[in-house]
Order: sequence, then structure tokens, then C-alpha cells
Amino acid sequence: MAVAIITGASKGLGRALATALAERGWDLVLDARTGSALEDAARGARKYGTRVVAVAGDVTDAAHRAELVAAARGLGGLDLLVNNASALGAEPLVRLEELPLDGLRAALETNVVAALGLVREALPLLRAAGGSDGNGGAVVSVSSDAAVEAYGTWGGYGASKAALDQLSAVLAAEEPGLRVWSVDPGDMRTDLYAAAVPDDDAWRPEPAAAVPAFLRLLDERPRRASGRYVASALVETEGDR
Ligand SMILES: NC(=O)c1ccc[n+]([C@@H]2O[C@H](COP(=O)([O-])OP(=O)(O)OC[C@H]3O[C@@H](n4cnc5c(N)ncnc54)[C@H](OP(=O)(O)O)[C@@H]3O)[C@@H](O)[C@H]2O)c1
Repeated sequence: MAVAIITGASKGLGRALATALAERGWDLVLDARTGSALEDAARGARKYGTRVVAVAGDVTDAAHRAELVAAARGLGGLDLLVNNASALGAEPLVRLEELPLDGLRAALETNVVAALGLVREALPLLRAAGGSDGNGGAVVSVSSDAAVEAYGTWGGYGASKAALDQLSAVLAAEEPGLRVWSVDPGDMRTDLYAAAVPDDDAWRPEPAAAVPAFLRLLDERPRRASGRYVASALVETEGDR
């Protein structure tokens, strides 16, 4: 059975992805810092009968990243790594003139450095995925439109997501046997968004609404090139198959 590591899987998009993959029979290694919420998410995913290992910890901790990959190895290997856990750098978000440099460092550490750390730790398993057919594993970097649009107050977070996108693009060039997709899920009603902009109570879709786009990438793996995708565009073109 296919195995995935999903970071930031206790709530929001990570949890929605974990549930959807478990429903499709994937074995999972799930991460988040808050153990109780993570265990709750893992219990939900186990209802589908697959193996789900919850490893609580911080993705910025190298020992924790090694634990995540070791857990995948214990499940038989690794077919998919989803770097989803994310930091804003300031809560609520502030203009660049006020952005604490330590906040920017924290966003880069979680969104970029930890993501690369996990990729490096996981590469041997990802390269070995798919056996002799040369179809290695996949890496999904959860991006944001803030990586490509200049929205006021989103500068530090957006810069970290832009760096994550570029890191993913270069990884794709260096690892042609893998698929490396950066995916902008679009706005979602989550704790992260509420922390970013507490006064913005406009309607936003639940994270589950973004999941079909991720599943489509996985389903169409052989012909879906590595690169950057916007979730809504992926599902809008559903009829073009
Ligand atoms: N919400 C939006 O509108 C939106 C739009 C575009 C892109 N995104 C992206 O979508 C992804 C998911 O965000 P979300 O909105 O679903 O957020 P969320 O609901 O707040 O969930 C974030 C998850 O990441 C975990 N996490 C945070 N920092 C971590 C760390 N250092 N180590 C391990 N786990 C950590 C959180 O659990 P703990 O706090 O317990 O660790 C939680 O499980 C992020 O990459 C975000 O940038 C979101």
C-alpha cells in the first residue's frame, strides 16, 4: 500500500488531506506539534482501516524529521511527502516596516528550511518508490498565492512561500524521477487564516474543498509534470481529461 507523510496534519488542509488519503487506502505518517489534536486526527483517519502513525513534534527539529521518515520506513517506504505545516512570521500579519526579523526567520525556518530538511531525509525512500518502473515518489509543497502576488502585510510569509516554490522547482529539475508539485490551495477557513487576519470574517471554503485538486495530481501522476499548480484551476479543468 502507498505511504505518505503529511506535516501539519492535525487540522485544516493537512487533516483534510490525511482523511481523503486514508479513505483511498493510503498508510500515513502524520505530524503536528500538539499531540492531542494530532491523535484525534489520526483516530479519524484510522476509521478507514489503514495504518496511521502519529508522530508529534516540530518540523524545525531535525530529530523529529528523522522520526517521521523512520516511521514511513517502518510502514514499508514512502510514496508521497506533503510539506504542509506552515508559519506566518507574525500573528496577525503586519506590514514589512513592522515585521520582526525573528518572525521572518521563523517563517523561513518552518516553511523553507524544515521542508528541505524533510526532503533530504526522505529522498532515499522517495527515489526507491515505485520499484523498478522508474516512477519515483512525489513531493507536494503547499504554497500560497502570497508567493506570487504582492499583498500588503503578506510579505514575510509570501517570501517564504516563494522560496519554497523555487526550492521545489529546482528539486524537480535535479530529481527527474520524482514528481515535485507546488500547490496553492486557495483561501480556506482555517486557524492559520484567522491568525493572519483576525478581522476578516468573509466567507471562505473549508479546507476539504481543496482536496480534489491534490487527489487529481496524484491520480494523473504519469502525465502531470512537476511544477506549480493552483488548486481551483486543477479542478476547473476537470472536463478536459
Ligand atoms: N488557510 C488559507 O487560506 C491558506 C491559503 C493558502 C495557503 N495555505 C497553506 O496551507 C497549508 C495549511 O494551512 P492551514 O490553513 O490548513 O493551517 P491550519 O489549519 O492552521 O493547520 C496548520 C497545521 O500545521 C501544524 N503546524 C504548524 N507549525 C508546525 C510546526 N512547526 N511543526 C509541525 N506542525 C506544525 C499545526 O499544528 P500545531 O500548531 O499543533 O503544530 C496544524 O496541524 C499551509 O502551508 C498554509 O501556508 C493556507
